[in-house]
Amino acid sequence: MSVLFFKRFLKRPFQIASIVPSSKALVERVSDKIDFDQARVIAEYGPGEGVHSREIARRMRPDCQLLLFEIDAAFSRDLSRQFSDDARVHVINDNAAHLQRELDRRGIEACDYIVSGIPFSILQIDKKRDLLQQTHDALVPGGRFIIYQVTNELKQHAKIFEHAKSEYFLQNIPPMFITVFERANGRNGEAPVAAAASSFRR
Ligand SMILES: C[S@@+](CC[C@H](N)C(=O)[O-])C[C@H]1O[C@@H](n2cnc3c(N)ncnc32)[C@H](O)[C@@H]1O
Repeated sequence: MSVLFFKRFLKRPFQIASIVPSSKALVERVSDKIDFDQARVIAEYGPGEGVHSREIARRMRPDCQLLLFEIDAAFSRDLSRQFSDDARVHVINDNAAHLQRELDRRGIEACDYIVSGIPFSILQIDKKRDLLQQTHDALVPGGRFIIYQVTNELKQHAKIFEHAKSEYFLQNIPPMFITVFERANGRNGEAPVAAAASSFRR
């Protein structure tokens, strides 16, 4: 077990919402849902100690950027240390709700994928809807929002996405729903348009 993870859980149980990081099996399953040949911009909400981030960074192309939004300062410091040699990875010690501001600041048009491990279910309804809308708007057409959650309650609030597909994944403690939401205008079944190559502007 990650000592840092457990310590941060004791400090902020509702924000961290789990006593152990995601299992290797869950990490691989989530990464398998990303087309790394196409992805040029990936954002991750709530990377924690970085178990998904390391796998994403390991698989992603040299010209792909990974933006890590982690609200916890201790996790952010640890992530900055882990990725200090990888210029593709940017650690942002901030609320995921500031995604659009951060994209604007960096001159990034949109994300191909957004992966989330934050405890959406405990967010107030207005904050939840705001973050969902912002996440949707920050994706390229056909871009995907991938979440892993103990409950599948987010699905009922995320009707702005054209498609949603869930699976219940048992190889994690606790078991998780993995849901992939897709923004409209993507051509069904094909990979998202790469953000860097896209001429699409919001
Ligand atoms: C359940 S942990 C998941 C950690 C890691 N992704 C994993 O799978 O093991 C949730 C993480 O989300 C972070 N978090 C919670 N709310 C957040 C927010 N609004 N913006 C950014 N990070 C947030 C917490 O600090 C914590 O690191």
